[in-house]
Amino acid sequence: MKTIAVVSTAGGTGRTTLSAALAVLLARRGRQVVALDFDPQNMLGAHLGIDGFAPAGIAQALLDEAGAWHTHTWRNAEGVLFVPYGAVSLAHSARCDARLAAEPQWLANALAQLVLPRDGVVLIDTARYPSQQADQAVRCADLVLCVTPPEPAACATLVAQLDALRRDGANLRIIVNRLNPARDMQRDVLAMLAAALGNGLPLAQRVHLDVALPESFARGTWLFDDAPHSQASHDLHGLANWLDAWVAGTPATAARGHGERV
Ligand SMILES: Nc1ncnc2c1ncn2[C@@H]1O[C@H](COP(=O)(O)OP(=O)(O)OP(=O)(O)O)[C@@H](O)[C@H]1O
Ligand SMILES: [Mg+2]
Repeated sequence: MKTIAVVSTAGGTGRTTLSAALAVLLARRGRQVVALDFDPQNMLGAHLGIDGFAPAGIAQALLDEAGAWHTHTWRNAEGVLFVPYGAVSLAHSARCDARLAAEPQWLANALAQLVLPRDGVVLIDTARYPSQQADQAVRCADLVLCVTPPEPAACATLVAQLDALRRDGANLRIIVNRLNPARDMQRDVLAMLAAALGNGLPLAQRVHLDVALPESFARGTWLFDDAPHSQASHDLHGLANWLDAWVAGTPATAARGHGERV
């Protein structure tokens, strides 16, 4: 089983969108996929096509209110097994955070209870980093996908947190999302980000901006079904192919070929 954490140091970068899309695309490639919502926003279920917000999930297990965390699972139409965070009030959210702070291995212990084949995948959507949820996810992940738009503020926060992420995360990969090649400023920001990251961390994976993406979400469909030949669909398939090859243990470079260039 491979664990992939989807994190970002800014809000609204596309973590939940990418977590849901990649979960479905990996399931369509025959992987057994668990999508775990580790963000109190509790939004991943909506992206996976499950109506409404799941009332109970990881949070209620953290609060000792509703049994084991894995009793609150759903399966979506694509066969993805989904674990919600669950609905929380502000006070409950603080209690969940306190428990996670007191038990830094809570998520690792929870994932150890999963029975998945060697090539099964757990995709974790996280609260914005730094947070208790993102910190735990980064520490248990085999691969950390760090999502950032090519915007100055988002990239600045990423660079500021890079040392902390590198300390915690074994295998970090930057995903540039909402790329718009028509904007010169984005090219400059990406060049600055690449320089700050250094040679060890290539900016190989990119997903282009596509205004049809939020529209597909609103309709309850997938962009890669609605507009399979769009650049963003091509990018998402490229990213899923790369992940699929990484999960299978084949050299990552062999599966690239989509979404590499502006
Ligand atoms: N490549 C893209 N092109 C266009 N819109 C996108 C793209 N990726 C994500 N979005 C849109 O950006 C918005 C934020 O995405 P999302 O909710 O996935 O981000 P997030 O990082 O999970 O946010 P939060 O910090 O609130 O959890 C959504 O409206 C989503 O549809
Ligand atoms: Mg989100």
